[in-house]
Amino acid sequence: MDNVKIKTKVNGENVESEVEPRKLLVHFLREDLGLTGTHVGCDTTNCGACTVLVDGKAVKSCTTLAVQASGKEVTTIEGISKNGKLHPIQEAFLEKHGLQCGYCTSGMIMTSFWLLKRNRNPTEEEIRRGLSGNLCRCTGYQSIVESIQYASKIMKTEESEKEEMAVEH
Ligand code: FES
Ligand code: FES
Repeated sequence: MDNVKIKTKVNGENVESEVEPRKLLVHFLREDLGLTGTHVGCDTTNCGACTVLVDGKAVKSCTTLAVQASGKEVTTIEGISKNGKLHPIQEAFLEKHGLQCGYCTSGMIMTSFWLLKRNRNPTEEEIRRGLSGNLCRCTGYQSIVESIQYASKIMKTEESEKEEMAVEH
């Protein structure tokens, strides 16, 4: 089948490309754009290792076609740190030992990003429910949950500091 032209914005950069209509978003990101932080763990929508944001919403890129991302914004794990500074969720995973082998981590972080965007102050139960589509074979989840709780604290502190600065100026 003929290739299809797609236009996307990936991590803030406009991307124009030609892809096979059957190409999965995860393969487009990894093979065509070299963004290998997004992993494939199962290919069957079970493990969540492939999670990215499409127009701000967490999706499993192993069951999304690249053509479905045309006209949309995609954010991968490579796109959430700013100016060489880790995103607070990344910092929190480091600080609270939310990873061992790291294979599931980019998906966990992107799902957490979506979770914390909708709910800045999730309970432990809400975090566990929010992560129910992401599997980790290493850590037993407790340290992952603690990482997300810690990330929520950092993000709230950063927000209140910004608000204070805005009031002062
Ligand atoms: S690789 Fe997509 S859910 Fe497992
Ligand atoms: S840290 Fe190894 S699979 Fe989650």
